[in-house]
Amino acid sequence: MTLTASPRIAVVVVAAGSGTRLGQDVPKAFVGIDAHTILRHCLRGVFAAPEAQVVVVAPEGREGEALTDAREAAGSRAELVSVVTGGDTRQASVAAGLAALWPSVELVLVHDAARALTPPEVFERVIGAVERTGWGVVPALPVIDTIKRVSGEQIVDAVDRAQLAAAQTPQGFRRDVLETSYAVADQEFTDDAALVAAAGHRVAIVEGDAHAFKITTPADLERARSLAAPVPAVPGGGAAGGLPRVGIGTDVHAFGGDGVLWLAGLEWPGEAALSGHSDGDAVAHAMVDALLSAAGLGDIGTHFGTSRPEFAGAHADAFLARTCELLSEAGWAIVNVAVQLQSNRPKFAPRRAEAEAALSAALGGAPVSVAATTTDGLGFTGAGEGVQALAVALIHRA
Ligand code: CTP
Ligand code: MG
Repeated sequence: MTLTASPRIAVVVVAAGSGTRLGQDVPKAFVGIDAHTILRHCLRGVFAAPEAQVVVVAPEGREGEALTDAREAAGSRAELVSVVTGGDTRQASVAAGLAALWPSVELVLVHDAARALTPPEVFERVIGAVERTGWGVVPALPVIDTIKRVSGEQIVDAVDRAQLAAAQTPQGFRRDVLETSYAVADQEFTDDAALVAAAGHRVAIVEGDAHAFKITTPADLERARSLAAPVPAVPGGGAAGGLPRVGIGTDVHAFGGDGVLWLAGLEWPGEAALSGHSDGDAVAHAMVDALLSAAGLGDIGTHFGTSRPEFAGAHADAFLARTCELLSEAGWAIVNVAVQLQSNRPKFAPRRAEAEAALSAALGGAPVSVAATTTDGLGFTGAGEGVQALAVALIHRA
């Protein structure tokens, strides 16, 4: 391993935003593009770029997940990674990242985690230009749309787009320039280039990249999903190589629990509850077993048994999120999970899409499909005594 103990370059990856405009139920950096989160994709580019200290700025309470993503993406560079807690604004989050820089660092790149597919060449271009000029450097693209200045609904002026450039990240600066600019900033700026320019320093542009677009809206996420490198689904496929692995899990719970039914990650008001140590969600438990079996990590009893009181009464999201963590700590990423539920009740089809979305979100975005069937009145499910779920999971080396 050839690590520079004292890197000259640092990348501050700001990932502490909530992603209001994306509108998912997890902070934006932890939304899945495929089996991997936005943050993980972003860090893949960061670690393919020249060696640097990497400071990930995470939302409060999400530092552990960020560190897992960062360590996995870092590979042999894991000791260059640290995670700090972000602030209420992007600017506060960058400042938190700057406070964690090591003494050896002379050049700092600030990068939005939301620009998840930024290629390593953009980092190289920015670093090269800062080294050459000593100026602040911003990757930028020409503006393609015709831009109008408006007042309410009325166009008041045309703006010459030849004079405009759309700024991206990573934005690079000499460390002393960036730190002194942050020290004197007395208002919120939209990016670091504006903050540094306001402090009186020069900032130049280099060519940006269309893939460095910022994931802001659901449409952006769709675009990222279609562009992201497909997960290898064939033996030996993909850079990570190795065979994918399959796992199977099954679970049965009897009706007769207290309270309301929880099944397939959803609450079912008015339906009889299942009994069990947790909420009796046989669909989720079968998924956990399938995933653990695929990874060779034992079964649900190994990790969530009655000796773990924190999982008493827990719902699918807690079990599945922890299972995801266990798999990723062991170096596995989920390709997909398919489940079949055998049960007379509840009537499942009307809420299938909702259940699949909830279960998929709990797995960081990996696709989950749930089929449901009755058993023609036969067996314990046919008699309405309980439910049975059978799950199959496919995973691959992360
Ligand atoms: N960011 C941050 N801390 C904040 C706000 C934003 O670290 N308090 C980061 C985001 O995680 C993102 C980048 O700054 O990587 C660009 O911000 P933006 O795209 O606006 O992300 P969000 O603020 O999360 O999204 P929204 O504005 O829709 O809530
Ligand atoms: Mg924002």
